[in-house]
Parts: sequence; structure tokens; C-alpha cells
Amino acid sequence: MSTGRYLPERVMTNADLMKLVDTNDAWIVERTGIRERRIAGDDMGAAEMGARAARIAMEKAGVEPGEVDVIVVSTATPDRWLPSTACDMQALLGTDNAMAFDICAACTGWLYALSMAEGYLMAGRAEIALVVATEKMSSIVDWKDRSTCVLFGDGAGAVVVRRSKGERGILSSYHRSDGKLGDLLYRPAGGVRIPMDSGVLERGDHLVRMAGREVFKSAVRSMAEAADCALVQAGLRKEDVGLMVPHQANIRIIEATAKLAGIPMEKVFVNVNRYGNMSSATIPVALDEAIEQGRLKEGMNMLTVAFGAGLTWGAMVVRW
Ligand code: UT7
Repeated sequence: MSTGRYLPERVMTNADLMKLVDTNDAWIVERTGIRERRIAGDDMGAAEMGARAARIAMEKAGVEPGEVDVIVVSTATPDRWLPSTACDMQALLGTDNAMAFDICAACTGWLYALSMAEGYLMAGRAEIALVVATEKMSSIVDWKDRSTCVLFGDGAGAVVVRRSKGERGILSSYHRSDGKLGDLLYRPAGGVRIPMDSGVLERGDHLVRMAGREVFKSAVRSMAEAADCALVQAGLRKEDVGLMVPHQANIRIIEATAKLAGIPMEKVFVNVNRYGNMSSATIPVALDEAIEQGRLKEGMNMLTVAFGAGLTWGAMVVRW
């Protein structure tokens, strides 16, 4: 697997947020661990961010655009409703021989996307897959709601995956969802059931709403359970994990999950302090940085866990 990332240049600090809502650096750092996040400009969309991350991953993999067979894009912030962001991104990349589609599983989306790509590769229907997560969360955050706007950021991560028969690769994949809990983290309107109109815009009903405390508790329980299941499926023990790369939503969620899953924090990759929650993009961005920093090495068992709206959650073990 080869990785790439794109982070917009503009940094928004906690001090910047204090100018927008009634908040402060101490609260944000203590309750979330976030110090700053990146914000994409008006001219930057999900497809463009994804394409920038993907080009880097393809270059590292030595893959030409025409060699990609399947593109799976995870995004909760598509550039437009039709066509998919994956197709818009394909046009930017010139990956003309690929099939391309989006999946929507919120913060868990990149793991779902990777599993789906694995399915195509294992079935022999593809040799090379591009798995991208790209999120412009700043476009769906309610900048008047201090309980959510301090949490999110923009960015994209991409991975090139090849079919292979060796020792390395995906060892296990465990995914779940619970649609009954959908209203804990959602956007009330702006889809077809309650279409966008001036009332929706005025009330901000097209923006993210979250029951933070409930989501927090569910996240910890579900990710720890998923980690256990993925390890059992892979035939590994906790001690065999070389690096855990969790979804980066909140340092307290990461620490509580690691504790419950029995993985020491020295083995957990954290960058939520610098980027906040970029929804499904957090994991591929973290993987790219973990490799760059020498934390994720060839032959290591990497455990990744995620949780998000849906509710959705999952874990995978990859021998890197
Ligand atoms: O990617 C997966 C999806 N999302 C998540 O995983 C996020 C899950 N939830 C969380 O991370 C946490 O629940 C939050 C960070 C959102 C909130 O932390 P909390 O410790 O659960 O705080 P709380 O919601 O219980 O609020 C505590 C207090 C409240 O004041 P009162 O009612 O005690 O007077 C809030 O009004 O903190 C207040 N508060 C703030 N104060 C300063 C809420 N947001 C802020 C803020 N600045 N930004």
C-alpha cells in the first residue's frame, strides 16, 4: 500500500475560533486535544483535495493513471449530488480505465471503502485500487454552534492497494452499523425528504448536529469491541499490534478506546491536535504521516479503528 495526503494550507487555531463563538483554548484542548485544524478555501472542493492526495500515493506506488482499475471515494461532503466525487476526481486524475464510485459511511467511510476495494481485488476483478477519503467538513459545520464547530477540519488521504498473494496485506476486516442511532449525528435537511429552501438555510438545518456525549460513549465501546473482533479474526493478540491508527475525533476518545482495547498509548498514532476531526480522511492522513515518521514499518501489524455517523464503526488489521 502506498499513501498520500493533502491538507489545505490555511490553519485555524483555537484562538481564531474564540473570535467566532464563546469558547477558549483551554476548554478545547482539555476536552478534545485539538489545537488547530485546516480549512479549505472556497475554490477547493472534495474532488480536488482527493486528487492531490491520490497523485502522491500513485507516484509513490509507481502507478500510472491508466493502470488504476477501481476508485472508491469516501466522503460526507461531495462536491455535488450528481455525479459522484469519485467520477469528478477520476476526470482530474486521468484514470480513464477505472470504475469509480462514492460510498457514504461518515467517519468510518475510509475503512468501508478499503474493505470494498479489497473485495474487488480478492475477487480478481481488479489489480490496482485507489481508496480515497476527502472531506470539506468546514462546509457543513455550523459555525455558530460551539459544541461542534471546534471539532472539525478539512483534508484528504489516499492509498493505492495492489492485489498480491504475499504475507503482507489486509488480515481482517470487521464492520458494523446501527441505523437506529442515526439522529445522534446528522444533518436534518437538505436532502430529498426535506429539500433545501430558504427556511432550511435560515435555521441551519442543512448543517451537522451532534449529541456529543452519547456519540462519545458509543464511540469508545464500539471501537474497542471492533478492535477485539478484528484481532480475533486475524488470529492475533493485542501484544502483536505494532501500531494502532484510530480515527482522530477526540484525544479522550482515542485514549479511552486504547485502554479498553488493551493497547498502550505508545503504540497509538495521534495527530488530532493538528487537524481535528477530518471525518473519514483522518485515517489515511494518519497512515501517511505514520510512515513518514517511521512509526509504521514494513512487516508490522497495524490495527485501525473508526466510528462515525450512521452510526457506523469498524476495525481492520493490516500487515504492513
Ligand atoms: O467522528 C465521530 C463523531 N464525533 C465524535 O466522536 C465526537 C464525540 N463527542 C465528543 O468528542 C465530546 O462529547 C465533545 C468534545 C463534543 C464535548 O465534550 P464533553 O466533555 O462531552 O462536553 P459536554 O458536551 O458535556 O459539555 C460540557 C460543557 C457544557 O457546559 P455546561 O452545560 O456544563 O455549562 C457545554 O455547554 O462544556 C460546554 N461547551 C463548551 N465550552 C467551551 C461545549 N462546547 C464548548 C466549547 N467551548 N467549544
